[in-house]
Amino acid sequence: MSDVKQKSSNVVWHDTQVTTAMRETLNGHRGAVLWFTGLSGAGKSTLANAVEERLHQMKARTFVIDGDNVRHGLCADLSFSDDDRVENIRRVGEVAGLFVQAGVLTLTAFISPFRADREKVRAIVGENFIEVHCNTALEICESRDVKGLYRKARAGEIADFTGISSPYEAPENPEICVDTGSDNLSACVDQVIAYLQAHGVITK
Ligand SMILES: Nc1ncnc2c1ncn2[C@@H]1O[C@H](COP(=O)(O)OP(=O)(O)O)[C@@H](O)[C@H]1O
Ligand SMILES: [Mg+2]
Repeated sequence: MSDVKQKSSNVVWHDTQVTTAMRETLNGHRGAVLWFTGLSGAGKSTLANAVEERLHQMKARTFVIDGDNVRHGLCADLSFSDDDRVENIRRVGEVAGLFVQAGVLTLTAFISPFRADREKVRAIVGENFIEVHCNTALEICESRDVKGLYRKARAGEIADFTGISSPYEAPENPEICVDTGSDNLSACVDQVIAYLQAHGVITK
């Protein structure tokens, strides 16, 4: 449940006849969020999409929610200020929580730089929150500079750029830590899939 104060007291929760457990049984796997976090260029989107492809081949129900994509719609009104980053992750956490109730293996790719915000999502999603740290060093991300943003940030053209002018708080105890700086992509995918199998999220 969200920690945002409800504005109206006249809203009453309506239970559904079809439960999450029933959807999970139909799907043949649990609903869960794989929450990929890391610096820009760490490999969140690349790895989330590669894991989704593998899960889709295994006939799992999947969906990727990508930071760059939600900022075109759901979060188009938000900037990269600290407050707006908090609200960005709050909204996405709520959406991810709905996807879990739908029984979907949900993969999110957000820098999500603040530990407290990720912990709030963990509180919304519960035991089905799987934090995946894409652990690529800043120097490597900067040398990749996939979108040319580090160059712009160093030139002072982008304010609040994570790792340069805005902090990144690495997870202290993530469920999965992937070495997206040095391991190859398919080894990283194997590591994530192995975790899901070992923890009974998927059974194939
Ligand atoms: N093991 C790996 N996992 C993910 N990406 C990798 C890996 N090794 C190299 N890369 C490269 O790193 C870049 C990561 O970019 P991207 O996925 O857009 O990062 P992010 O979404 O974290 O900003 C891509 O060019 C990708 O090909
Ligand atoms: Mg990305």
